[in-house]
Amino acid sequence: MSSAQRRLLVTSALPYANGPIHLGHMVEYIQTDIWVRFQKLMGHNCTYVCADDAHGTPIMLRAQNEGITPETLIGRIWQEHTRDFAGFGIDFDHYHSTHSEENKVLAQGIYIKLREAGLISEKDIEQAFDPVKEMFLPDRFVKGECPKCGASDQYGDSCESCGATYSPLDMKNPVSTITGATPIAKTSRHYFFELPKLQAWLSDWIRSEGRLPSQLVNKLDEWFKDDLQAWDISRDTPYFGFEIPDTVDKFFYVWLDAPIGYMGSFRAYCDKSGVSFDDYWKADSATELYHFIGKDIVYFHTLFWPSMLHAAGYRTPTAVFAHGFLTVNGQKMSKSRGTFVTAEAYLKHLPAQALRYYFAAKLSSRVEDIDLSMEDFVQRVNSDLVGKLVNIASRCSGFVHKFFDGKLATFDAEHAALLTPYQAAATNIANLYEQREFAHAMREIMALADNANAWIAEVAPWQQAKDEAKRDALHQSTTLAINIFRVLMVYLSPVLPEMAAQARTFLNEGDWTWNSAQTALEDHSITAYTALFTRLELKQVEAMMTENAAQVAAQPQQKLETTTVATAPAAIEKTELALEPIADEIAIEDFMKIDLRVARIVKAESVPEADKLVKLTLDIGVGTRQVFAGIKSAYSPEQLEGRLTVMVANLKPRKMRFGMSEGMVLAGSGDGGLYLLAPDSGAQPGMRVK
Ligand code: 2FM
Ligand code: ZN
Repeated sequence: MSSAQRRLLVTSALPYANGPIHLGHMVEYIQTDIWVRFQKLMGHNCTYVCADDAHGTPIMLRAQNEGITPETLIGRIWQEHTRDFAGFGIDFDHYHSTHSEENKVLAQGIYIKLREAGLISEKDIEQAFDPVKEMFLPDRFVKGECPKCGASDQYGDSCESCGATYSPLDMKNPVSTITGATPIAKTSRHYFFELPKLQAWLSDWIRSEGRLPSQLVNKLDEWFKDDLQAWDISRDTPYFGFEIPDTVDKFFYVWLDAPIGYMGSFRAYCDKSGVSFDDYWKADSATELYHFIGKDIVYFHTLFWPSMLHAAGYRTPTAVFAHGFLTVNGQKMSKSRGTFVTAEAYLKHLPAQALRYYFAAKLSSRVEDIDLSMEDFVQRVNSDLVGKLVNIASRCSGFVHKFFDGKLATFDAEHAALLTPYQAAATNIANLYEQREFAHAMREIMALADNANAWIAEVAPWQQAKDEAKRDALHQSTTLAINIFRVLMVYLSPVLPEMAAQARTFLNEGDWTWNSAQTALEDHSITAYTALFTRLELKQVEAMMTENAAQVAAQPQQKLETTTVATAPAAIEKTELALEPIADEIAIEDFMKIDLRVARIVKAESVPEADKLVKLTLDIGVGTRQVFAGIKSAYSPEQLEGRLTVMVANLKPRKMRFGMSEGMVLAGSGDGGLYLLAPDSGAQPGMRVK
């Protein structure tokens, strides 16, 4: 198994700093972590870095909605993300943030190198602008009717009904999802990365051996058929990101500095560990660089990212590994179906090792979706980890303590030979790990466990134990069983690091390498066996789902920052509404008692002590009213000022902790969000609503 030590730098995609880690994310982090742990076990010098992806409009707006700075928001989310990753045993060498000094220096430096290479162009472009919020709107923040098929409620970049792609300005009846205002067209200067100038180089790059899975090369060929377009890398203020050098109020688009975040995180790692950054990133570096990503972000990682690196004089990735999405019980993850399971909810009820094993048992090098079916999960984990693996040790260790004072035997020739096939499997299993064929590797390991269990059943140590004359045979058989268990645990240690550590305590030995499987424990004392894994119960899954539903309901809606180039389907389907039943009938006289008025929000103030409340001053023509409205989760005060809405004007004033509330504003609400009602334009404050 000996081979020269390789130096590898490995990354997983950077999760956005505006939402929780969920099980869909965990496919990738578990896949990468297994691969990295395997490389380290092989004795290679492998470094695993990642970071939060902290920039962009959704993060800026969420911070505004919460009444906090983006820095405070991303600091809090960083804590949550790193807690969840640690809970799943994801062993990053460094976990950074794209909003860091290291990343800023690198992003601005790369931009300047691209500019010096003549690869940055400028152009005025017209885009949708929210006149109320006074900001340009990312495509996903405009909704309206598809210009091609007329389907309503479509996003500003593409139609989910007919698949058309377009600009938000082409839509019929567009609205800003931030304020509800009708976007206007506004022109501003944008900066572009001239990707077409690198087309020939890039075309060779993606085809070089082993660079990308063949499925992806075919996909990229389709993209290449239509000529590549220059990539818009700038955004106008207000934007949470890095300023573009030598410009005023222009920021890098989040996807420019996100992959540079891999370098930024590694730079921070180098500063703390003394490793040379340049050794890894110089153009002719002898080190290897691998990115694990989801299939939805292939475009960014195989076109823009290598081109930027190459043009700025850095090395390019050795390979990009893409995986499919996670489905839960055969369906896309969905908040309304309760299958959008957060890492936090999972970890409260179930062991991380179970999911690590289950994902390993499903993952291959192919870009395929994998399914987490809850019943299959419980059944598979129990059957393999408890029924096959742990069983080997648990059935035999008691005899070693009872009859041999906890000491393993020295093998006779027959038993030494019986261990050999288990050890000989190491090369094949290592190749499968290296090729990311984890499911195949797990099948091989479990087939070995099946053989071991069949052999144990045949030899029946519990029968040998009844016969004083068979003490030596019992010592040999139990020593062999425990050594087989040990070899299998070495093979599984990249997948089950916690269980492997417990097994080493039981076996009374220190750290393993992959070659540890080639040795045997003989004439060696082991410690008392304690349960290495407890059977999963379906009720744990049910408790997780209940907990999760509550957590997801409490989360604000996440918006995805994408561009029209990302042609893969969105990972998460649109929320379906669970609608409340219609209330009991009332007479028209009852309705007429409610005095509804058109109101203009003349002032909106945050109530810092209250999580949900905004203090509104409403002009209703005949005077003003003060109302405390529970709408903070959906609107920031600045989004509200100047808007028209509808209020209940004759509601008996209520004394609240922060002052009197003299009415109510009307909003549609449910698990799909919260939407303040607004009359059509032309309505005047004070008009009665009937
Ligand atoms: O799609 C996403 O979730 C992005 N935050 C991934 C960024 S990966 C890298 F390029 F930074
Ligand atoms: Zn359409």
